[in-house]
Amino acid sequence: MAEKARAYGELAQQLAALIDAEPDLIANAANMAALIYHGLPELNWAGFYFAKEGELVLGPFQGKPACVRIAWGKGVCGAAAGRGASVVVPDVHEFPGHIACDDASASELVVPLLSAGRVVGVLDLDSPVRGRFDDDDRAGCERLAAILLAHHPDWP
Ligand code: SME
Repeated sequence: MAEKARAYGELAQQLAALIDAEPDLIANAANMAALIYHGLPELNWAGFYFAKEGELVLGPFQGKPACVRIAWGKGVCGAAAGRGASVVVPDVHEFPGHIACDDASASELVVPLLSAGRVVGVLDLDSPVRGRFDDDDRAGCERLAAILLAHHPDWP
């Protein structure tokens, strides 16, 4: 999938340029959500949940309004946070405990944000297309998350 790798390469360059001169985490996460949402095809939601007091709390995103708080370990987001590893769900209806924020969502990719050995949040992508996300998407989104994390070494 050379095409996909190239697309993520371009997104990575754009993200690095977007956040380069800006130290504000919320501003950079908001622009990153918009970059992903408008830069990748077939998405209906892209954004963040941040780890706060033992749960995940909604952060900057693009898409329909979403559930605000997700318990650690719950849903796809909580599973990725709990495992500290990315989760690709080809069909959300077959994922036990999936939390449906938008009925249109059919598949999902969640990448944990790891800073200094702890999970500080997750990057969550939803698609209305079943099987939308593959291993290239996982690797590409992990690369994008790494750019944001490297820019904010003192993540709160
Ligand atoms: N589906 C997610 C909840 C967040 S929304 O998709 C934006 C989950 O199961 O954790």
